[in-house]
Amino acid sequence: MNIRTENLSKTYKRKNSSPVFALRNVSVEIESGQKTAIVGPSGSGKSTLIQILGLMDKPTSGKVFIDGKDCFLSDDNFMCRMRKENIGFVFQFHYLLADFTVFENILIPVWDRKNEYLKKAETILKEIGILERKNHFPNELSGGEQQRAALARALINSPRILFADEPTGNLDRVTGNEIENLLFNISDQNSMTLILVTHNEELALKSDRILKMEDGGIK
Ligand SMILES: Nc1ncnc2c1ncn2[C@@H]1O[C@H](COP(=O)(O)OP(=O)(O)OP(=O)(O)O)[C@@H](O)[C@H]1O
Ligand SMILES: [Mg+2]
Repeated sequence: MNIRTENLSKTYKRKNSSPVFALRNVSVEIESGQKTAIVGPSGSGKSTLIQILGLMDKPTSGKVFIDGKDCFLSDDNFMCRMRKENIGFVFQFHYLLADFTVFENILIPVWDRKNEYLKKAETILKEIGILERKNHFPNELSGGEQQRAALARALINSPRILFADEPTGNLDRVTGNEIENLLFNISDQNSMTLILVTHNEELALKSDRILKMEDGGIK
């Protein structure tokens, strides 16, 4: 799936203080299957951009088109469906639910039809290398295993677009690189569109494209 933005802006207004212009007129096109690395200094708008592209937040102005469809013109049902059917998201912090096992956490995005996904969940866990941890609770996992589980959860719906916002920011370099490479290779093998915020220069160089952000814009 391809994504296009038109003059995307996001302003955070706060009481008794000046507004923050987190995104300023970003117009960008990301082709289907393209691997894009977003880089830039802290506060430059990387998370704000991918949260809007992933339909998790709304812009102050501007448009996002996914496969030509004007997402924010559509109703919330459309956005929910788009997220559920086509989008996967991995965050810096895993956000696994503490009272659910790894296996259950992975099934949460498809909970209403979870019985159809049991086999798939096993296959993904195996591919990601944590099948033997499937019955562990999140606090019974290492940091790297937690992020692997979060990646598995993002993949359960076979997303056409995978977003990852510094998915290994909390991990040591070696573990982080392993997981980012895994994420990159899985999205590559499945022809997913990948949009990855990363500080991993090697991986950024391996991607099809690097978007450099600075002060809310693309440099
Ligand atoms: N909810 C909010 N309210 C007010 N300002 C915000 C809010 N969220 C982010 N900002 C501001 O918007 C700007 C962009 O933030 P964003 O999180 O997109 O940066 P980033 O490039 O992801 O940074 P980092 O590398 O540190 O994660 C920052 O100046 C930040 O302080
Ligand atoms: Mg960020």
